[in-house]
Amino acid sequence: MNDVLTDPGREALRQPAAFRTAEGAADGPVDHVLVCKQVHDVNHDTKTFAFEPAGPGLFRHDPGQYLAFTFEIDGREVSRCYTLSSPPSRPHLATITVKRVPGGRVSNWLHDVLVPGAVVRARGPMGRFSTARHPASAYLFLSGGSGVTPLMSMTRTLYDLASPADVAFVHSARTPADIPFRQELALMAATAPAIRVAHVCEDGGRAERWQGHRGRLSLGMLQEIVPDLLDREVFCCGPAGYMRAVRRMLHAAGHPEARYHEESFEAPGPGPVPAPAPAPACAPALASAPDPARSAGDSGPAPRFTVELSRSGTTIECDAGTPVLEAAARAGITLPSSCGEGLCGTCVTTLHQGSVSMRHQGGLRPRDSAQNKILLCCATPLENLVIDA
Ligand code: FES
Repeated sequence: MNDVLTDPGREALRQPAAFRTAEGAADGPVDHVLVCKQVHDVNHDTKTFAFEPAGPGLFRHDPGQYLAFTFEIDGREVSRCYTLSSPPSRPHLATITVKRVPGGRVSNWLHDVLVPGAVVRARGPMGRFSTARHPASAYLFLSGGSGVTPLMSMTRTLYDLASPADVAFVHSARTPADIPFRQELALMAATAPAIRVAHVCEDGGRAERWQGHRGRLSLGMLQEIVPDLLDREVFCCGPAGYMRAVRRMLHAAGHPEARYHEESFEAPGPGPVPAPAPAPACAPALASAPDPARSAGDSGPAPRFTVELSRSGTTIECDAGTPVLEAAARAGITLPSSCGEGLCGTCVTTLHQGSVSMRHQGGLRPRDSAQNKILLCCATPLENLVIDA
């Protein structure tokens, strides 16, 4: 644990605009035992949970990274990824900010049960969606709903470092009452000349006379708020539909794709994930522009294998070269997953029969491999399989 919880604070604060604490990421994710130190309301349905390490040490991460948490809920372990809303420049606490979702098992448990003093486990930090990886002199942060958290970490970092980088932060919410961190963002904008904040509300709500932008974010609105958007490194996080619309807008405006980075979030759980549903957890499924390696088609038909899910008794088909998780999703079966890139370990299961090709990024420990564990998001079949799922 102390590998990651070392002393980055002062070193980080010496860094210029581009915050580089990449050692944490380079070391790979690490297991943490965390103690909840504080819970506070962000708005009517969103809370921030602050954690400190159970032992001595400080948090080291890049702004925008996330942790894969394991919570024990009703006697069962449940995993979720949450982006840190805290900046690495405040390394004593790691905070996550969670919106209560009707019927959401984990978000409701966090809101109703998790109190200061509770102990949880987490693995990380993980994720590449970070200003530390794409330093620039001008940023455009675009968030929708709960997608605000990684951008909040990035903005707090740049603010804490008195960075000269120009930040335009445009958040889309349903109503003014749904805007998270409203006062803190206003304070940062008022006291840091390089930070500007604008909110776009679909509905003006009833609690106040909304003076800001109203409706859904459009290209015209965005150009009005940020006339020089083409010159900015763009970071976007929000529901899938929101990000699709943003991508379309920026493409139409001629924004260079290489300077666009996004992170989607989906709530893992039983049943299909509704595409644009706001979720409490930022479970990154995409990072940066689409991966050409995954979209490039192979020539010739790939051999096809069967994958038996021993617990459910279901058998699906999976082409060689296709991750089992993807094949399951295509068959309408949602298996636990978060990062989708072999980092977090959420999709781990036991391989009972057969063999796979797998290239993960630290989501499995050597002892896991010795116990025939595989990560479904990056395991592709080499023959027919039987897995524990
Ligand atoms: S989903 Fe994160 S390792 Fe597979």
